[in-house]
Amino acid sequence: MSAEGVRETWSTRIGFILAAVGSAVGLGNIWRFPFQVGQEGGAAFMIMYLAFVVLIGFPAMLVEFVVGRKTGLNTVGAIREFAGGAWKYLGGLFVFIGFVILSYYSVVGGWVMRYIVGSATGGYVGPPAADGTPQAAQYFGQIAVGWDALFFHALFMLVVIAIVALGVQRGIELGVKIMVPAIIAIFAVLAVYAFTLSGAAEAYSYYLSPDLGYLLENWQSIVPAAAGQGFFTLSLGMGVMITYASYLSEDENLAIDGGSIVVFNTGISILTGLIVFPILFSADVDPGDPGAGAIFVSVAEALGGIPFGELVGVLFFGTVAIAALSSAISLIEVVVSYAIDEFGVDRLTATAIVGAAIFVLGAPVTYDTVMVDLYDILAAKILLLSGGILLIVLVAWLHAGEALEELEKACVFS
Ligand code: PFF
Ligand code: NA
Repeated sequence: MSAEGVRETWSTRIGFILAAVGSAVGLGNIWRFPFQVGQEGGAAFMIMYLAFVVLIGFPAMLVEFVVGRKTGLNTVGAIREFAGGAWKYLGGLFVFIGFVILSYYSVVGGWVMRYIVGSATGGYVGPPAADGTPQAAQYFGQIAVGWDALFFHALFMLVVIAIVALGVQRGIELGVKIMVPAIIAIFAVLAVYAFTLSGAAEAYSYYLSPDLGYLLENWQSIVPAAAGQGFFTLSLGMGVMITYASYLSEDENLAIDGGSIVVFNTGISILTGLIVFPILFSADVDPGDPGAGAIFVSVAEALGGIPFGELVGVLFFGTVAIAALSSAISLIEVVVSYAIDEFGVDRLTATAIVGAAIFVLGAPVTYDTVMVDLYDILAAKILLLSGGILLIVLVAWLHAGEALEELEKACVFS
């Protein structure tokens, strides 16, 4: 219960769906996805990733929805109500994962905000250094660490805190009703623009025609990468969807909601590829360049070499910032709703304290960009996968009967 004694809810079903889509669509689709595709061999990775999303991601999302709607509680309370014994610590693990992910997610979100400015001023465009380092790489090297990065990390967290402090309806729901349509509209325009670029045909074939031989040879690295990306991109494995579904009233159709969220999120990832890869190929930039700098170095470098690069840069990074914010508010809400439900703190206090703590935890990431890779591997390949799998075992296996009953409740098929 909140301090006022009445727990908040979404005002409409569409509000819930948009919030979940806003959570799903984020840096995972736009920053993480292209470099995973690049590292894991292009379209070969795409097949595994799509299979994973449909066969495991979708049911895992329904599992979280069921737990959230049935209990109407934050993730710790929800798990505690669902299972006893050592299982009760799973909710605590989710809150911990939320902390870890948002702490570096916010640093990357800060880079994105910085790049809106960099695009407008042409900061990352220019001749290479004497040793041949491209200007985009030098620029990233300067802004990704140190005071610059710390400042934008703080700015990003402040915006997140401001939205979430306003509450479920007036903050999160209102925010996503503006943000999600904006993301879809701007990205559609950018994909049409990318289609007109000289490298488009080459990009589409790299990205969309799978090489099964490559998949068979490299499955040991492709499978975990696709699984980690699947959980990360759908916001699964740490209780976001439990928390969001806990604000639902009874009469929703969870399967259709979950299906729409998966379809939208996958659509945005594919759309991102249709924007990013033509831009890279048109400027002769290698899409295999791995690591956290991917869109900030490769895409930025490429933007310097294509028509209307500055405007496209502002639109692109502006949209990425919006997408990152609408995901970040879901990450912090897991922790905030735990603090409100379990300790009776008011929302403003909870949000401010949690936000400040996450800022501190993320600060070391602004020291060196390898920290982003470390946090990211820990989060996506270890924590989210463990959290997601444990929850599936608990609910879909140990409590299958109850879960199915809850899923069928208020379902059109029943
Ligand atoms: N799904 C978000 C993205 O793709 O950017 C990131 C994310 C949000 C991951 C919430 C996990 C999470 F619980
Ligand atoms: Na996503």
